[in-house]
Amino acid sequence: MALSTQHLLGIKDISKKDIEIILSTAHQFKEVLQRPVKKVPSLRDLTVVNLFFENSTRTRMSFELAEKRLSADTLNFSAAASSVKKGETLLDTVNNILSMKVDMVVMRHSASGAPHFLAKHINAAIINAGDGINEHPTQALLDALSMTEKFNKLEGLKVAIIGDVMHSRVALSNIYLLKKMGAEVMVAGPPTLIPKYMGQALDVRVEYNLKKALAWCDVANVLRIQLERQNQPLFSSLREYNLAYGVSRKLLESLDKEIVIMHPGPINRGVELDSDVADGPFSIILNQVENGVAVRMAALYLYSGKDISPS
Ligand code: CP
Repeated sequence: MALSTQHLLGIKDISKKDIEIILSTAHQFKEVLQRPVKKVPSLRDLTVVNLFFENSTRTRMSFELAEKRLSADTLNFSAAASSVKKGETLLDTVNNILSMKVDMVVMRHSASGAPHFLAKHINAAIINAGDGINEHPTQALLDALSMTEKFNKLEGLKVAIIGDVMHSRVALSNIYLLKKMGAEVMVAGPPTLIPKYMGQALDVRVEYNLKKALAWCDVANVLRIQLERQNQPLFSSLREYNLAYGVSRKLLESLDKEIVIMHPGPINRGVELDSDVADGPFSIILNQVENGVAVRMAALYLYSGKDISPS
């Protein structure tokens, strides 16, 4: 099952066939994870470093769990507790870790393109766990697996990506993936949080009215306001944002159909999503998190280059 790239740097770079291979392998690993013994020997003798230069809960924990389920040895690197604080460069840091006979790198970094830079300088396979405002490929893959489980298809599905699209690597990876798989995509939110180029350049619908966006879609993938990436707030206040763009139960009940609610996490409850929606019957947010382990097992297994059956 050859993939078209050595690294998983972004969904933009990989083919529809690659996406299908990863999703079908993730489906197989989900079956493995239902068994009483969830561990398989697929990556025994392989060592993976989880290199996190930015905070994370879901991505970091699920990569580590995926590595353990595959019997790989894992090293966890946190920039805050490392010699990066003494001025060591990214390349020196990685080369020093690789000299300890580490085989694969999972990397999250605040700089867009950091994993692409690394890929030019090292031989080990790299999986991008989120780079700046660029891409978060494994998030898009786990979102795709979650939507496929719900609807049995991606082709023709109407997906609205709602909120702070401007600063969201989740949005970009989802758009690339959904368009490659034949879904219809809309980005919705305040004009200040949607890049002007996006509609035409990426062939997505743009909608500034939340109710119209919700009425159009089968799935609403709601995004967090990423204040940490905004030099100055791009809307007047969180309360006003909630009034105009917060997804509430009342709003969902006003639609003439049921839609599925997704969110990559972490949720700002009462800002982009009310609690009774996040925890409500149409939410698949925890399914997304569950699917993160199987998708990351698939990505690690496939990009390791090991030709061993997942089962
Ligand atoms: N979805 C996501 O990337 O969450 P974390 O930042 O907690 O990893």
